[in-house]
Amino acid sequence: MAPDLPAGTAPAAPAASAVTFDVARARAETPGSVGVAHLNNAGASLPPRPVVDAQVGWLEEEAVTGGYELAERRADDVDHVYRAVADLIGARPEEIALVENATYAWHQAFWSLPLRPGDVVLTCTVEYGTAYISFLQAQRRRGIAIEVLPDDESGQVSVEALARRLDAAPTRPGTAGRIGLVAVPHIPTNGGLVNPAEEIGRLTRAAGVPFLLDACQSVGQLPVDVEAVGCDLLSATGRKWVRGPRGTGFLYARQGFLDAAVDPPSAPDGLEPAFLDLHGATWVAPDRYEIRPDARRFENWEFNQAALVGLGAAADYARSWGIEAIAARVTSLADELRGRLGEVPGVRVHDRGARLCGIVTFTKEGVDAVEAKRQLVASGVNVSVSEPAATLLDATQRRLPSMVRASPHYYNDETELDRLVAAVAAL
Ligand SMILES: Cc1ncc(COP(=O)(O)O)c(C=O)c1O
Repeated sequence: MAPDLPAGTAPAAPAASAVTFDVARARAETPGSVGVAHLNNAGASLPPRPVVDAQVGWLEEEAVTGGYELAERRADDVDHVYRAVADLIGARPEEIALVENATYAWHQAFWSLPLRPGDVVLTCTVEYGTAYISFLQAQRRRGIAIEVLPDDESGQVSVEALARRLDAAPTRPGTAGRIGLVAVPHIPTNGGLVNPAEEIGRLTRAAGVPFLLDACQSVGQLPVDVEAVGCDLLSATGRKWVRGPRGTGFLYARQGFLDAAVDPPSAPDGLEPAFLDLHGATWVAPDRYEIRPDARRFENWEFNQAALVGLGAAADYARSWGIEAIAARVTSLADELRGRLGEVPGVRVHDRGARLCGIVTFTKEGVDAVEAKRQLVASGVNVSVSEPAATLLDATQRRLPSMVRASPHYYNDETELDRLVAAVAAL
């Protein structure tokens, strides 16, 4: 296991300003950037003006039109949201379900899978708590087995171990030990690690094993292309790196997987959601329903339409900057921050991985992370706390305490990093 970066020895990083990015415009279009150094984009980003306008405009119109009536009148705008979100990840609009958060998206995906007693779910040490709790529930209720893949020397999930495990496993349904699912987070909630999603997808595709990617912390921050990744299912949120409204999320379900992942005779229409309503299915006879052919089968009929158009505006806005450019800027700011925090006496940066992203987690000797966050927020710098229980396997393995999590986005600037570093030094 690669060690954490000890205090004072973080590698030198290129200055964030080396990357060309129109930060002034990004800030001008982010109303909240005037009042606070918001370094909590892994929690919920500050929305840009077009996202706020899309939501407020919808609410104003809805108030004088009627909720159902406006949704009908602006059906094209609602439809556009599917296109905008699909374009963000290289999917087709029919492969997108718009839901309330990443957890609902993930749950709908996981609990729809036809896992049988004896099937193995393969995951990794940085798995998110909610997912792992669900694995434990499925172990108890469905008799599945959970296996945790080891990390490689950089800290990311070991691709070699996955390849060996897939090679060794039986493939016939109903055979104990069959791998029923590979499920990992692309980026964990507790640090800068980026898991090798494309290498995982290459292996799962070759083995014909379903792959569910939790892309909650990666979509909007890094380029994510579902074809290149090769996942069958992907869950994500709107409010973090995409900079959309709270209460939005989405599930990608590959059309071929939707059609084929059947567990006859109970699911004649393909992958059957754990929860279905009158939008996901049609009640065609007293004893029969039919599931709709697209990914919207996973949705709830009722949804906050203002938030939905806000999500569409956020997806369009993110693409207008270019996700590659966003990734370069975010990575550069986070690298710079790691380097500078590492020079503050008593600070330990905990991120590891072959490749690092925009999440920076650290502790300061003698200062509890919750108290550190309280003081930082009081001084106008927003950060959050990463608790061990959110990623319990990793926290146990690396003996991680509660950590402060700072997560700059492209609209943050160097003066905000200065403020954070100075406030941490003063803790
Ligand atoms: C890696 C990861 N997965 C899933 C989630 C859950 O997302 P949501 O709160 O939108 O349900 C989070 C939230 O922080 C996360 O960091």
